[in-house]
Order: sequence, then C-alpha cells, then structure tokens
Amino acid sequence: MEADPLAPALFAIKLGLYGSALLAAGLDLHASLNIIARDDRSRALRIATVAGIFALIFAALRLGLANLQLGGANSLLDPATLSWTWPALGPSSIAVVVGAVAMAAGWLLQSSIATAIGAVAFAISFGQTGHTQALESPGLAPWAAAAHVLIAAFWLAGPITLWPTRSLEEATLTARVTRFSNFAVAAVPVLFVLGLWLALLLAGGWAALLSSLYGQLLIAKLAAASFALALGAYNKSVVTARLQTAPETGQRALRLTLDLDAVLFLIALAAIAAATSLTGPPSP
Ligand code: HEM
Repeated sequence: MEADPLAPALFAIKLGLYGSALLAAGLDLHASLNIIARDDRSRALRIATVAGIFALIFAALRLGLANLQLGGANSLLDPATLSWTWPALGPSSIAVVVGAVAMAAGWLLQSSIATAIGAVAFAISFGQTGHTQALESPGLAPWAAAAHVLIAAFWLAGPITLWPTRSLEEATLTARVTRFSNFAVAAVPVLFVLGLWLALLLAGGWAALLSSLYGQLLIAKLAAASFALALGAYNKSVVTARLQTAPETGQRALRLTLDLDAVLFLIALAAIAAATSLTGPPSP
C-alpha cells in the first residue's frame, strides 16, 4: 500500500491536539478538584482557556486534513467531501467546541462547574472518534478511551501546577503536591488498566501487540508512562517530605522530577500520535 503523503501532517496535528487539549483539560481538573486553591486559579484558568482555543484550531485542522486525504487538493472546504468526513469527526469536533466554550466561561465566571464540564467534554471528544469507534461492536471502549484521556490530562498537567515558581509560597506548594499525589494514587493505576485493556482489544491480543508497529508504539508509551509513575512514587514518598524539612533541596528535586515527567509525557504523546496517524491496529 502506498504511503499517505499527508500522514506526517496528521501526526503533527494530532500531537498539537493532544498537547493543547490535555493541558487545558488537566489544568481545569486541578482547579475543579481544588488542587489549585481558589485565590490562585485565575492564571491557570486563563492558560487552560488559551490551550482550549489551540485545541479548537487543531480539531479544525484535523477535519480539514481529513477532507484533503479523502477528496484531494481542492476539497478542503468541499461540502460533498465534508458529508463523508463529518460523520467520523463531527461529534468529536462539537465536543471540542463545547469544551472550549465551557473553559472560557469557567475562567470568566470563576466557575468550577464550567471548568469541570470543559475538561469532561474534551475527554469525551477522544471517545467519539478514532479506533475505538471503528470496532465492530465498540461497547464500552469509547467511554474507556474518554476516561483514559481524562486521567492522562490530570497527570500531564502536573508539571505546570506543581512547578515551584518564586511567587508560590512553600506551604501552598506542599499542599498542592500532597493533594495532587492523593488523587494520582487512585487515578493513575486506572489509566494503566484502561490503557492495557484498550491496547489488547485494539491490537487483537498479546501476539499482535508485540509484533505490530501499532502495538510496539503502545508498548513504548507504556514504558514512558511507567517511568513517569516511578517518578511520581518518588515525589510522593521522598520529595513531599523534603519540601517540608529542607525546602530548597526539596524544590530542586521537584524541578528535576517535573522536567523528566514533561519529557516522558512528550514521548507518550508522540507514541500515541504515531500509533493513530502513521499506522493503526493490525487487521485481524
Ligand atoms: C503518560 C501517560 C499517557 C498519556 C498522556 C496517554 C494519552 C493518550 C491519548 C491522548 C489517547 C487518545 C488518542 C486518540 O484517540 O487519538 C490515548 C489513547 C490510548 N492509550 Fe494512552 N496515554 C497514557 C498512558 C497509556 C498507557 C500506560 C497505555 C497502556 C498500554 C495506553 C494505551 C492507550 C491506548 C490503547 C489508546 C487507544 C489508541 C487508539 O485509539 O488507537 N496509554 N492515550
């Protein structure tokens, strides 16, 4: 089969969509879950709103590119081509619009309900399209994908919310790290279970997971996520205590682990962007 010349463009668009959508949803979740205290929320909600607008732009580019892939160079805005691509991407694009509007309302009105709606709508947009929808009987898989992405967003925004900026008081930082870790301990294992279940379902079993390019990209993502999990455990068991006993050393250790987290999350996003644009699940 001839390689799709537009596949690298789809990879770049997906990476942009994942990065902006997960950052926006993650910061909004941290505000709704009171990891970021009410007084400190305005900056985080502003960043989330801007990231939400970028997700909207990437979702529009994704739709435009699907038109080009299906109808050729002159079909970017062609209604006839759109009538084919909209059923696959329409519901997901609408969820991104709803999410971006709710996030902006959450920021302008300082409303936790609106920010929570924004984060959930973005997560649902991932369950409404993609490989889980292409399954013969999708069942719970699209919802598992949405829940998976919601937790991934919560985790991925951690380095931003927990970064020890000069303006952040030591007690506020320690409170954020403690509250974040308490939620992460419960949520992150669920992300792994959902991810592994989806990987086996979509790849079609262990053999296909290990032998296909799609499966190997998911395993690379699992490896990156596992290192991030180990860093999280180190933060919870060592760094949190050090933040209280020796704040300067504790903050240095926190900066290092958060830097490493950010690199690992980028690797995870690049692996899933490649798995959903440059290749796909092996045919049964
Ligand atoms: C840092 C941790 C992780 C992040 C940021 C992350 C992010 C994502 C995102 C954004 C998607 C949606 C892709 C799309 O629908 O276009 C996704 C789907 C998926 N993730 Fe994760 N994930 C993480 C960890 C994991 C782990 C540990 C596994 C286990 C193998 C996993 C397996 C999957 C699978 C199988 C899908 C569905 C892929 C498809 O639709 O083809 N993820 N993940």
